[in-house]
Amino acid sequence: MPVAEQTSALDQVPIIDVGEVFADSSSNAAVQAIDQIAEACKTWGFFQVVNHGIPANRIDEVWRQTHALFALPVDEKLAIVRDRQSPWGFYNNELTKNQRDKKEVFDYTREGVDPIYGQQNRWPARPAEFRPTMLAYLDACTELSLNLLEAFCRGLDLPAKFMHPDFDGNHTGFMRLNYYPVEDPMAQLGSDRPAADLGVHHHTDAGALTVLLQDEVSGLQVFRDGFWYDIPAIDGAMVINTGDMMQVWSNDIYKAAIHRGLAMDTRERYSIPFFFNPAADCTVSPLPSVIGEDRPSLYHPIEWGSFRGKRSEGDYADYGTEVQISQYRK
Ligand code: OGA
Repeated sequence: MPVAEQTSALDQVPIIDVGEVFADSSSNAAVQAIDQIAEACKTWGFFQVVNHGIPANRIDEVWRQTHALFALPVDEKLAIVRDRQSPWGFYNNELTKNQRDKKEVFDYTREGVDPIYGQQNRWPARPAEFRPTMLAYLDACTELSLNLLEAFCRGLDLPAKFMHPDFDGNHTGFMRLNYYPVEDPMAQLGSDRPAADLGVHHHTDAGALTVLLQDEVSGLQVFRDGFWYDIPAIDGAMVINTGDMMQVWSNDIYKAAIHRGLAMDTRERYSIPFFFNPAADCTVSPLPSVIGEDRPSLYHPIEWGSFRGKRSEGDYADYGTEVQISQYRK
């Protein structure tokens, strides 16, 4: 597939100032930003936000801890490797669309036993600041995601907090630290699998929305109308995209966009997506404001907990196909 030349602002994922949305959601500036968010969700399924409210010094510390984790000796990382029973911890051989990705990852969620897998986080023995930094960052991303959810609801003509009961205090969101090295991380482990040609192969995110922090090395691309578009790294911005469940809730008004990450050839890259997901027992169906006589529901109900469980099985399997929302289409 061709990569688009980006010559005009129209060819770029929009950059939206959300400061006013979160401060006073009835102001003119907020209403404009909410319209821009709704439009971006309908066209790109992606946008960037500035003035999102997460302080720069907190983000700097998250980067420091992330770099420190991946710089640990391999045996310390493998001591917290995730497995089929529990998806929390380190991994360096993820399969997305059944092809190996050129990356290392670390996944964690809220503390305690998670309600989908019945498992707990695995934490590295060091650095000491890693765990508190990462848990505080997960809380900050949750707050930002709840604010964004309000804008998404208003864009669908729903009361701002309409979806909060499925998320507030009971969400199953999780954080992924991505490290895209220049050297193939599996090469040193003597893998007999074919070389990885992308950092992360093309996919949609399974849940509601994703809040992604990327460093200054670009590599993320979104697919639209037959082209791949770069999502440039912008200092202080976060990248937001809609996931499969948002596409179902909105009855296809908002798109879960296909995206991918390039493999790194000359400079290593780090990114940190927070996948904001509903409660384990949430059943996802098109919302009342988006169905009617002229617009029937396009999907059968989806049990989030079981959908997510099946989707992450695909991270380990090089057989079979990953569960997709198209299988629930009427
Ligand atoms: C992912 C993902 C994009 C990026 O980890 O699922 O899409 O820029 N990452 O790293």
